[in-house]
Amino acid sequence: MDVKAVREQFPILHQEVNGHPLVYLDSSATSQKPVQVIEKLDEYYRGYNSNVHRGVHTLGTKATDEYEGAREKVRRFINASSTQEVIFTRGTTTAINTVAASYGRANLSEGDEVVITQMEHHSNIIPWQQIVKETGAELKYIPMQPDGTVRLEDAEATITEKTKIVAMMHVSNVLGTINPVKEVAEIAHRKGAVMLVDGAQSVPHMSIDVQDLDADFYAFSGHKMCGPTGIGVLYGKKALLNKMEPVEFGGEMIDFVNLYDSTWKELPWKFEGGTPIIAGAVGLGAAIDFLTDIGLDNIRKHEEKLAAYAVQEMNKIDDMKIFGPEHRAGLVTFNLGDVHPHDLATVLDAEGVAVRAGHHCAQPLMRWLNVSATARASFYLYNTEEDIDRLVAGLQTTKEYFGDVF
Ligand SMILES: Cc1ncc(COP(=O)(O)O)c(C=O)c1O
Repeated sequence: MDVKAVREQFPILHQEVNGHPLVYLDSSATSQKPVQVIEKLDEYYRGYNSNVHRGVHTLGTKATDEYEGAREKVRRFINASSTQEVIFTRGTTTAINTVAASYGRANLSEGDEVVITQMEHHSNIIPWQQIVKETGAELKYIPMQPDGTVRLEDAEATITEKTKIVAMMHVSNVLGTINPVKEVAEIAHRKGAVMLVDGAQSVPHMSIDVQDLDADFYAFSGHKMCGPTGIGVLYGKKALLNKMEPVEFGGEMIDFVNLYDSTWKELPWKFEGGTPIIAGAVGLGAAIDFLTDIGLDNIRKHEEKLAAYAVQEMNKIDDMKIFGPEHRAGLVTFNLGDVHPHDLATVLDAEGVAVRAGHHCAQPLMRWLNVSATARASFYLYNTEEDIDRLVAGLQTTKEYFGDVF
């Protein structure tokens, strides 16, 4: 992978921030966008902006072709068996909420269990908290190992015959843990539960085959994979989606509307009420073309190398505490002595280095780690070892600045 050539495709990276060339290490929050995606959005709005599935006019037909073409690109990208299994949503959060509100509400009752882990993002905790409160089911957590991994024997022990839904992140946005979701799906299925995977941090960085994983539901966001904000995907097995009720009602998703009841369109449109996220989907299609051309395996290898280099260099700094397992995805979450992560991120920002600080939408995990917040540097295909050198230099500056807290 020619990283220099990749970087050329990202206009935003070629700027100075606070008098320094920008080093962007916050791609887990949202990735930057290549010129191919920016131009695709421009082409859409200049050339054929129109509502889809409605008119017979030329612009409407072109917009519909592009929108549905993007769905086919998503289908191929994750190897779903049909475009009927690809529902466009606003992002991972909306996708998980859709499953909780539709499948959860219809299939949970007192005595049933939903099983998750303590490393989940809030968007894979709160929808389940809410739906178990409503249905009388119980929320259970698979325990974690001290290094932030989950053992299959613990999954086996926590998931029981009462479990109806298992929901687990594929890759942790804090620890970088890569969870054994395929094996956990097998356990879930054996005990009669369905498996939802939060793929927000996996789909952008590794090749995903939903059929091989045998996930029943798989959720992800376009903006973390070089696509626009406001678009995401809920993959679901057709047999399950067919039985599920929509959660949003209105235009676009109906077949017949009578005075007192209505019927729904077939999949996937019954889950896409209202004017859909047309520009977002078209932009996501361009992002998928871009990532596919570079190759997800190349991206993953590049990020693994960067993460290993970052851990090696950061560990040379005294008082550095790095969280998460040895085998990690392309991000490093850390604290430096007693410096508050927000202060640390502020000093780094003054050096032109953008990192994240806070609870990363994972407060239960912060409590498990026994910290209130952490800093996080996350990498993507456009980052280099020089970026990490700049991070490490910035951390040294932070140490000098806050010398008295060590
Ligand atoms: C693991 C994980 N799940 C879910 C989400 C939520 O994604 P979105 O805000 O795009 O809905 C994120 C975003 O940071 C995430 O990292």
